[in-house]
Amino acid sequence: MTFKVSFNSEIKSNTGLILIILDDSLQLTDHITKLDKKYDGILSDAVKLETLSKKGGSKSLYYKKGKEVKEILLYNIGNLTELSIDNIDIVGGEIFSLLSNSVKSITICCSINKKLKMIQEEFATKILHGIKLRSYTFYKYKLKSKNKFKSSLTEVELIVKDINSAKKYYNPLKALEEGVFLTRNLVSEPANILTPKTLAEEAEKLKKLGVKVEVLKLAQIKRLKMGALLGVAMGSANEPRVVSMSWNGTKNKKSKPEVCFVGKGVTFDTGGISIKPSGGMEDMKWDMGGSGVVIGLMKALAGRKANVNVTAVVGLVENMPSGKAQRPGDVVIASSGHSIEVINTDAEGRLVLADAVTYAIRKFKPKRLIDLATLTGAVIVSLGPQRAGVFSNNDELASNIFDSGEKTGEKVWRMPVGKEYDDDIKSPIADMKNVGSGRGAGATSGAKFIEQFVKDIPWAHIDIAGVTWSKSNSKLFPTGGTGFGVRLLNTYVKDFIE
Ligand code: BES
Ligand code: ZN
Ligand code: ZN
Repeated sequence: MTFKVSFNSEIKSNTGLILIILDDSLQLTDHITKLDKKYDGILSDAVKLETLSKKGGSKSLYYKKGKEVKEILLYNIGNLTELSIDNIDIVGGEIFSLLSNSVKSITICCSINKKLKMIQEEFATKILHGIKLRSYTFYKYKLKSKNKFKSSLTEVELIVKDINSAKKYYNPLKALEEGVFLTRNLVSEPANILTPKTLAEEAEKLKKLGVKVEVLKLAQIKRLKMGALLGVAMGSANEPRVVSMSWNGTKNKKSKPEVCFVGKGVTFDTGGISIKPSGGMEDMKWDMGGSGVVIGLMKALAGRKANVNVTAVVGLVENMPSGKAQRPGDVVIASSGHSIEVINTDAEGRLVLADAVTYAIRKFKPKRLIDLATLTGAVIVSLGPQRAGVFSNNDELASNIFDSGEKTGEKVWRMPVGKEYDDDIKSPIADMKNVGSGRGAGATSGAKFIEQFVKDIPWAHIDIAGVTWSKSNSKLFPTGGTGFGVRLLNTYVKDFIE
């Protein structure tokens, strides 16, 4: 799907485009000086040009001698002291956007003399990681115009001093890319292909990486009395699934999992009987985004053999209107024993999460729980596509997730779920209702509802409705599924748990 990566310690002349990354000192290091001599000094001439002098400046060069035609791209990443290690992948993404569509292979060399805060190999692999993340495409259904949409870039070669060290840095990043790409693929799949059953099968593929995966089918879900999730699933011909996953990366395989990730997996949300307007309804294929992140994250953690015990649960249903669908006003009983008055069948994500969270806590007894869901339109009104909303009963957990967001660029903002909102979801006839009382704070009502099932363990709910799908290109992803949440929580696990 994307390009092949290789590492080399020398630039071979038969390679395609040569990309030279410079810092603002614009000095040529040894191997670039060698190249410069070979190409009659065109590089040392180019670094004197005005266009290269500022941060982000670039210059494309063509060298012709006899039959040999060489394309070289010089790029100035600016002042290294201003660049933190966490932003280097973004530079890679920016560089990718500069490349012409016809480039087949690139050789990347870093010409950096100044002292880096990290070793050269780490720096180079981060650039590569950014290029890879940005190069993702989803064209599997372009059947008749396959060639037009096929990416021409098939190979990227990284020139480094120490190949083994570069591989050591790149391996976990590669695992992360694979997790992010899985999430993007899953949210991009249409709902006739990705049903609860096929999404569960995608999760089962993680077994190959050593993840333990268990899939509950309809009969078992009924036996566990998951009435809230089943109420949503009732209207659909596609049966629900509940999938649990565990990754035991530490030596102490028996210890309590540090965290359990729980995901909303509504493979299509029509709204049910409280049906949505038809304009834009196609977007609701990505209403399984929370579960997509959880599955992609487990792939990344297992792929890089994270030294941690983590677990996950995803609740997979399709929300359809039909003669068998639940109605507004129905009362359902969740597996926790709580009764819920379903005022609006379109507030289905929280119903699914009620049973998924209860199952996660009973099965795994995790130390913390983090759920992800494309839960509300209200969070998009509050925060837009720039940040996801985080709701938490624990300051430390909220702050750790916030910090991971700043570091990865998958940013979050904390929103309230305090006692002052308790009355919002009170029902006159049941233990609670599934919508707020219409006094605004719609994203908080959703969080408040989920909180009822969490009890007293540290918990964070991340509402990713605004960030799961992008309508425009960004530095690290093209239009479409963003994979938001995988890099955020991979960093959270790495920095605060491992
Ligand atoms: N899946 C939607 C939320 C959503 C909306 C995600 C737009 C992404 C983009 C969710 O199930 C929903 O419909 N929520 C309702 C809740 C309301 C009925 C209380 C909403 O936000 O309108
Ligand atoms: Zn809905
Ligand atoms: Zn939904």
